[in-house]
Amino acid sequence: MIGVCSGRPVSITGLGCYAPERVLTNDELAKAVETSDEWIQTRTGIKERRIAASEEATSDLCVPAAEAALADAAVTGSEIDLIIVATITPDMIFPSTATILANRLGADNAAAYDLSAGCTGFVYALTQGYGAISAGLARRVLVVGADTLSRFVDWEDRSTCILFGDGAGAVVLEEVERGGFHAFELGADGAGTKELFVPAGGSRRPSSAETVAAREHYLKMNGREVYKFATRILVSSAESVLATAGRAVGDVDLYVPHQANVRIIEHAARRLKIEEERVFVNADRYGNTSSASIPLALRDARAGGRLKDGALVLMTGMGAGLTWGSNLMTWSEGRN
Ligand code: ACO
Repeated sequence: MIGVCSGRPVSITGLGCYAPERVLTNDELAKAVETSDEWIQTRTGIKERRIAASEEATSDLCVPAAEAALADAAVTGSEIDLIIVATITPDMIFPSTATILANRLGADNAAAYDLSAGCTGFVYALTQGYGAISAGLARRVLVVGADTLSRFVDWEDRSTCILFGDGAGAVVLEEVERGGFHAFELGADGAGTKELFVPAGGSRRPSSAETVAAREHYLKMNGREVYKFATRILVSSAESVLATAGRAVGDVDLYVPHQANVRIIEHAARRLKIEEERVFVNADRYGNTSSASIPLALRDARAGGRLKDGALVLMTGMGAGLTWGSNLMTWSEGRN
């Protein structure tokens, strides 16, 4: 799916994030599995990640992130028409995490649902939020990307447990006077299902003593295949969205890719010819937070003065499915 955004401009008018307090360092991981800080940093660029407290589920991460985004946009929960939570780690199989969040925000006038697109979830959800507003179905949409992958990672598998962290990021979308979204490109290739998945706990392989004993409720990943996919798709999806919007790589002020792995990001930036000063990276501090990674990066970029009013921002996500998605937007502070 690919297209240019037409009609009145729609943009992000509020942004908020939450990362759990507990920091898990590479040295701590090296005490649990056979690895080292040096190996992890060389292969991934990750130094530490945040891990949810035992009483924190995904909706508990969503609430402070959403409250911060609502405050940033100066709107209340009851003024939101639609809540989309992009997550692959919902509180439970059903009901959706979005309905739990809506209740906790007092969003009594909102439709609410979850969206599953792996680490691409945030970009997919932005597209849907934009679509609902531009079609006249909603005035204000709350899009949240949140994951608690620490609950689904096999802490005995050194090839995956080093990569992921927990977190949540939220944005409010509204019509604005200028700037906002220019174009989206989304895709999916279900042939890649087995490269990154959780085998049990769904309708194909319901939970049983056997599936638990076989550790089938944990994330399985073919790291090399995902690496190849990620480095290829980050480049092709970015090129497609830029071409569709009639813009060049040189026009981009800030490139905010999904924070899967610093090596993957550097590879893509080199191929796209985007120099370091225009690339935002915070995977070193949070690891791969799945759906939360792009909003967490936007928040940190803004706090660090790297996301300014009028900046052309390119975001690309990729993840389980396999899925991918890019968005090109002009960042606008406030509604005018
Ligand atoms: N510490 C030490 N050694 C390790 C570790 C570890 N944590 N993990 C694996 N190894 C070993 C392997 O066992 C292997 O040993 P062997 O040669 O004796 O068999 C060796 O290191 C090399 O293993 P590879 O898997 O080839 O290592 P690679 O260089 O590919 O790095 C990594 C692995 C970091 C997972 C890489 O494949 C990668 O980044 N893949 C992308 C994964 C990703 O980002 N997924 C995120 C989710 S999807 C998304 O967001 C796009």
